[in-house]
Amino acid sequence: MTPAATPTPSKPNPNGLPGVPTTDTTDSKPYVLGTGADETFRLGLQHRLWSGAAHALWEKARIQPGHRVIDLGCGPGHATLDLSAIVGPMGRVIAVDESPAFLKQLHDLSQARRVSNIERVLGDVQELDECIEDGHESLDAAYARWVFCFLNEPQKVIQGLRPLLKTGGRLAVQDYFNYERTMTLAPRREAFTKVVQATAASWRSRGGDTDVMGKLPGILEREGFVVEHMNVIQRMARPGETMWHWPQTFFEIFTPKLVQAGFIEEADRVAALEAWREASANPSAFVLLPPVFELIAVKK
Ligand SMILES: C[S@@+](CC[C@H](N)C(=O)[O-])C[C@H]1O[C@@H](n2cnc3c(N)ncnc32)[C@H](O)[C@@H]1O
Repeated sequence: MTPAATPTPSKPNPNGLPGVPTTDTTDSKPYVLGTGADETFRLGLQHRLWSGAAHALWEKARIQPGHRVIDLGCGPGHATLDLSAIVGPMGRVIAVDESPAFLKQLHDLSQARRVSNIERVLGDVQELDECIEDGHESLDAAYARWVFCFLNEPQKVIQGLRPLLKTGGRLAVQDYFNYERTMTLAPRREAFTKVVQATAASWRSRGGDTDVMGKLPGILEREGFVVEHMNVIQRMARPGETMWHWPQTFFEIFTPKLVQAGFIEEADRVAALEAWREASANPSAFVLLPPVFELIAVKK
């Protein structure tokens, strides 16, 4: 089935899960990093750099052809499109995001690639019962990468997801714990550390939590899941490596927003970028990246 180009809100989808897909490009409640071309590019690069880890986790979660999978906080859909290739024509990916702009980009990408097994749903992942009707026990798996860290009520996602998953269905998550204390430039630079701390503080001020993976296993156990896998991927990057551009693109986009929101002064931004520039020119420098924790939980 082809994704609707001009979908009707709340109309049941003949293939199963109804949703509220959209082609609107206006974001009334913008995501903290924005939804512009720069962030779309950053998310695309980020996905390429982390797609190996994502695919390994999906294999471990036994996502396979014919499955119905929900991608929570899908963004412009870089992971969604990979998942759609795994589940194939007999399967389906339901891509949920609160950003109409990102969902429009996913719509355009899906059309360009002639992908017809993705359903876009506009909504808050903390209100899954409101944006997905009649999906009772219809899903084989769920995936959420770097979305829990932006939420103020992660348990509501789990509570909304549980009835949608089949018994034995799996949730796979990749997200942060100990972001603030880990992300470090070596040799250490105070200006860089200050920006990392301001980043975590700004997410917290909007209800997010860069430590969310520390809480998720407990929430899942309380909500009727068994955590069957946990691991951490700790990486570093050196100047000149592709991975060096993961933090670089992030800070290029985010430090002006930190200044705008009053978390740092313009002088702090300039000092941090100067520290980064110096490190980029120093072959002995490296950056310790934020640890990406992953888990797979099974619905009992
Ligand atoms: C860092 S991006 C990650 C995108 C995608 N999961 C990936 O790994 O490429 C975070 C995404 O979560 C979405 N998001 C944040 N809070 C949300 C919420 N409460 N409901 C739905 N989407 C949300 C944002 O719009 C954004 O697309």
